[in-house]
Amino acid sequence: MDDWTFNKAYTREYTHIYHDYPARMIPQVARKLLTLYGENAENIFDPYCGTGTSLVEAMLKGLNGIGTDINPLARLIASAKTDVNINHKRVMYEIEKFNETAFKLDPNIPKIKNLDFWFMESVYNKLGRIRSYIDSIENKDTKLFFMIAFSETVRESSNTRKNEFKLFRYNKEKLKNWNPDPFIIMNLKLQRNLKGLIQFEEQISNLKKIPSVKIYDYNSVNEMPNNGIKEDFANIVITSPPYGDSHTTVAYGQYSRLSSEWLSLIENENIDKKLLGGSKLEKTINFPSPLLNNAIRIISEKNMKRALEVCSFYNDLQLSIKNVGKIIKSNGYACYVVANRTVNSVILPTSDAIKDFFEYYGFSHVETYIRDIPNKRMPMKNSPTNVAGETVNTMLSEHIIVMQKK
Ligand SMILES: C[S@@+](CC[C@H](N)C(=O)[O-])C[C@H]1O[C@@H](n2cnc3c(N)ncnc32)[C@H](O)[C@@H]1O
Repeated sequence: MDDWTFNKAYTREYTHIYHDYPARMIPQVARKLLTLYGENAENIFDPYCGTGTSLVEAMLKGLNGIGTDINPLARLIASAKTDVNINHKRVMYEIEKFNETAFKLDPNIPKIKNLDFWFMESVYNKLGRIRSYIDSIENKDTKLFFMIAFSETVRESSNTRKNEFKLFRYNKEKLKNWNPDPFIIMNLKLQRNLKGLIQFEEQISNLKKIPSVKIYDYNSVNEMPNNGIKEDFANIVITSPPYGDSHTTVAYGQYSRLSSEWLSLIENENIDKKLLGGSKLEKTINFPSPLLNNAIRIISEKNMKRALEVCSFYNDLQLSIKNVGKIIKSNGYACYVVANRTVNSVILPTSDAIKDFFEYYGFSHVETYIRDIPNKRMPMKNSPTNVAGETVNTMLSEHIIVMQKK
């Protein structure tokens, strides 16, 4: 059976265990696409690499890769997950030293907006000690491994509600008894990630050649191809673009803010504006996609502001597809994993739009697979009219669109 659901599959093998992230792709999807369309491939490209799921899967099959993402936290996680120089023995030694000495260090607390609002005092003092320890790690790969565990420790010990992507603080009642210990959380993360690292190391060491992966910060809309990501680089693209603009779907910037501040990652402030659909068009435009045009027309009759938001998103998506197309070798494949969301009760035909855009730039359609989404963390409901309390299921299945360059 052509089953893409992977209902009971364990999605956190290898370095996939390292860090959570909104709307992560499940490794099994990338793995199956690589088996079907990447058999003789040497290079993969992911223009919205997030935490690097498809890059890790490609590495496990011996491919080299390039990923780009404009969220610094995503890049940090992807760099760690694809880093073949993190050595488990060195990490084990460092964890031991960390447990013996970190609690004695002076806290090094960076400038964090509303520190007392987002963290209990005992928590930020301990986080500051962990940060001091991480600063002192000399080996850059071991340090990266610790930074990733620290990022999740920051998030989990903060006062933010954990099942949300946006930053919302726990209510007063919950905060009365909220007393997490960042040292305990950090240790659990380190030990858990160490197991994934050992699995990854073992698999990579069985390959004939160690694959190399590079992660860049280029904006897929207007900053590539370039010297880092050259035309005709990739035999295959496997990617999952955002579902919509950050404001009305997943707020990647907000999700990453606290970790980025503690890790002193630059330029997190305005990333939501730079993500697909972040800068707004002033009038609607026509796309080379009749179904998309029709959906936008219906939305514009109900709510022009929403129609413009939607247009801005697809305009960026189309520009990005034009660029991605250039980076794929002739006969190479583009595999896009997306969900069709609903705006103002109108289903947006993203999967058709992607197919139409690629066709417009000289690709042919190979296949569109549909999969249920049993285990991806994403907002399943939103307000169709932006009226509080009114919700509709936005995404219950994913479409995997496969295109081939002629
Ligand atoms: C659905 S997530 C990708 C998740 C990834 N497949 C994973 O498994 O972790 C979409 C990503 O696109 C990134 N993104 C959005 N707009 C972008 C742009 N214009 N250029 C590059 N990356 C962008 C976001 O920062 C986010 O990390």
